Amino acid sequence: MNQITVTKNAARQLRSYFGWVYQNELIAPSDVQDGEIVDVLAPDGAFLARGYINQKSQIAVRVLSFEPRDIDAAFFSARISNALFKRAHIAQTSDAYRLIHSEADFLPGLIVDWYNGYVSIQINTLGMELQRQTILETLIALLSPKGIIDKSDAKVRTKEGIETRNGVVYGDVPEEVTITENGVRFLVNLHEGQKTGFYLDQRRNRATVASHIKQGDKVLDVFCNAGGFGLYALSKGAEVRFVDLSDHALIQVGRNLELNGFASCDILKQDAFDFLTLEKTTGNRYDCVVLDPPPFAKTKKEAAGAIKGFKYLLSAGLSLLNDNGIVALFSCSHHVAQNDLLEIALEASARAKAPLEVVELLRADEDHPYILNIPNSAYLSGIVLRKAAL
Ligand SMILES: C[S@@+](CC[C@H](N)C(=O)[O-])C[C@H]1O[C@@H](n2cnc3c(N)ncnc32)[C@H](O)[C@@H]1O
Repeated sequence: MNQITVTKNAARQLRSYFGWVYQNELIAPSDVQDGEIVDVLAPDGAFLARGYINQKSQIAVRVLSFEPRDIDAAFFSARISNALFKRAHIAQTSDAYRLIHSEADFLPGLIVDWYNGYVSIQINTLGMELQRQTILETLIALLSPKGIIDKSDAKVRTKEGIETRNGVVYGDVPEEVTITENGVRFLVNLHEGQKTGFYLDQRRNRATVASHIKQGDKVLDVFCNAGGFGLYALSKGAEVRFVDLSDHALIQVGRNLELNGFASCDILKQDAFDFLTLEKTTGNRYDCVVLDPPPFAKTKKEAAGAIKGFKYLLSAGLSLLNDNGIVALFSCSHHVAQNDLLEIALEASARAKAPLEVVELLRADEDHPYILNIPNSAYLSGIVLRKAAL
């Protein structure tokens, strides 16, 4: 087995189950080929972990196992089976969920989603790319899918020195698949949808926000994508307006309304910031405003700008609420976390001249696990606030 030695600090991190070794933590440059499996050793030679190496990437080693076990078909079968076992109960309420969430399922660089009989995969690293065939064979053996689509078009592949891929790699995958999540139906375009098709990570949050909505409520779903939050609200008898910038997403909203037999709604193609600025002047008021923007802060450096954006969104959202109305605000970047959102809310409260009740503290659904030892696995945070009536 190839071996590399890492610094004391990296050894300490690995012993607390952090799964990465950075380039500058390798003690001696290694002549191991990029993508190969290596044993990671402490400066005193003790075994720490087994993973794959890529010296082109800032993250030089990603851990596959903290035990010296063979990385073979049996390994992938065990890892994938365990991930399926943990998620089996989700199938009682939804036929679409994430099966493998990269590091958080101890398979770094691999994302696998299940969409009602079809599988969508993303392989984002060279080390995982070299295991492609084993992974595909294991998924076929364990899941008997009707088809598998590869959506490995993530920009991160370029950093890893591998080409992007997008296409069907097994069976047939139709243009669209219908999924049912907590009784609400969605058409998902696996070929063109954002991410691997649908924002699965918000499943539980859609249900939680909807649990606060009642017949006749007025709901504004901003950054709606395919209409997730709004469709749940419609199922509770609310009146909903949808806002997004993407043509593809908005077409999906219209079709999802039809699919569920809901009457047509206002579906607005507008920049969310422009929309909110204008909406404040109209006198329209809502019982629930959902603000679920794309990641504003992909890096730590971008966090300050992102916080400004969140402040604007939340202040605008609060100003559109009826008394006792609720606003749900999400950040899908771990650089703007739950505490940051609460701080932003405290400031917005003063501006809105209203105390805010914290109704819910939210994170990604459990098919996107939060591993305590891997801080960035807590990438999605949300808060639901009620504007108190004074
Ligand atoms: C995180 S997704 C929303 C997911 C959605 N809430 C759901 O449950 O499926 C963010 C959405 O924001 C949209 N978006 C990005 N920038 C925008 C902007 N400036 N104004 C409006 N929508 C925008 C994207 O098209 C995308 O659909």
